[in-house]
Amino acid sequence: MDLTGTFYGIGVGPGDPELLTVKAIDALKKVDVLIAPKTEKKSDSVALSIAQPYLKPSVEIFYRTFPMVKDFAAETAVFEAHKDEILKLLRGGLNVGFATLGDPMFYSTYIYIFKLLEPCGVPIVTVPGVPAFLAIAAQIGRPLASGNDILTIIPATADLAAVNDALARADSTVLMKVYKNFAEIVDALTAHGMTDEAVLVSRCGLDDEKIITDLAAHKDERLNYLSTILTSKNRA
Ligand SMILES: C[S@@+](CC[C@H](N)C(=O)[O-])C[C@H]1O[C@@H](n2cnc3c(N)ncnc32)[C@H](O)[C@@H]1O
Repeated sequence: MDLTGTFYGIGVGPGDPELLTVKAIDALKKVDVLIAPKTEKKSDSVALSIAQPYLKPSVEIFYRTFPMVKDFAAETAVFEAHKDEILKLLRGGLNVGFATLGDPMFYSTYIYIFKLLEPCGVPIVTVPGVPAFLAIAAQIGRPLASGNDILTIIPATADLAAVNDALARADSTVLMKVYKNFAEIVDALTAHGMTDEAVLVSRCGLDDEKIITDLAAHKDERLNYLSTILTSKNRA
């Protein structure tokens, strides 16, 4: 009999504790070990606090450091070590969970672990979650795309020339990870006539959620890591 445990990648939504799916709750209840990623960003503890009420009392939380991956190839050793540890737990018959903010297959550390574990032949279940940009659209009452609209999603941490290229072609746009170079991004949006329609939401669904509509006036502020901009071309 195969006693290998299952690896669960669980999307817990963007912050609002009511935005977990039934499937995510069921998966959280099944895990014996939960891997809690630690990075220099505190956002990872948000995923853990959303997951916490559904975990078994006996669950073991393994806090592990995952580098912010700019170049996955350069960080392989750290990820390989985490993969080996997870494999050992699974082959010991334990179910292992990895809770991720929003959706696990969308700009998440989970993707790197998933890619390493997939060829190992262990059971993997990925549970989708509500991504932040969709929760934000609902929260601020802003339809993102309808009919033949093309929606563009841009990580603001990409090369600025690539961001500008994408903005030149874009209409309805989501900008993720805007915390690092917010001032540059505001300038780029201004150049493309996209500031009037822009709304920035920080920590959507959490107690300290913040909504900013006048981006230029806030250009020099330090943003929380969990900040996203929705915008489109100024049609005035
Ligand atoms: C590493 S990505 C994770 C994306 C996540 N997997 C998702 O499905 O939304 C981190 C970025 O997601 C966005 N984000 C995640 N949670 C958020 C929240 N509660 N409010 C605003 N933006 C959020 C921000 O743009 C942040 O910089």
